[in-house]
Amino acid sequence: MPDPITGDLHYREGFSDPAPYPALQVQGKNPYYARLLMEDYAGPSGEMTAANQYIYHHIMTDSAPEAADALEKISIVEMMHMEKLAKTIRLLGVDPHVKGGPEAAAWTSGSIQYGLTLAQRLHLDLASEYEAIYNYEKHIRMIDDPYIKALLRRIVLDEHLHVKHFKQLICRFDQES
Ligand SMILES: [Fe+2]
Ligand SMILES: [Fe+2]
Repeated sequence: MPDPITGDLHYREGFSDPAPYPALQVQGKNPYYARLLMEDYAGPSGEMTAANQYIYHHIMTDSAPEAADALEKISIVEMMHMEKLAKTIRLLGVDPHVKGGPEAAAWTSGSIQYGLTLAQRLHLDLASEYEAIYNYEKHIRMIDDPYIKALLRRIVLDEHLHVKHFKQLICRFDQES
């Protein structure tokens, strides 16, 4: 059921910043901006990679229920980001498929970092959050559309929260296999 406050099926309290999301809109069609958002959506350190990586890490975490729960919820919040980016890419006039083509490279499962232990996985996940933030900040500077900037800035708030969660989990489970 959608969250009663945000109206979003993917919202997970405590794992998404409480600030509201802006309405999805763009100033006009723009294939160049769509290509930049496709990197955030399905690039090597994009949302599709993060959602898949974290759900795999959730599934592989047997010994630490708290970490497993956080990994699942963060994965679901990344799906929220996927949906918002893909809908915005459509508004920009581009089909957000991930097969590859002139508009954007294909998504590849080869970008997923599997890791061998919980500790290693949490470090990989923290690094992927930092990469995502770096890319969003870069695209916020490159995109001159206030609606898209507002969306990316709002997503970044969630990614900072994920950094905080992964740092806390690393403190607790750094020796876990
Ligand atoms: Fe994300
Ligand atoms: Fe994240």
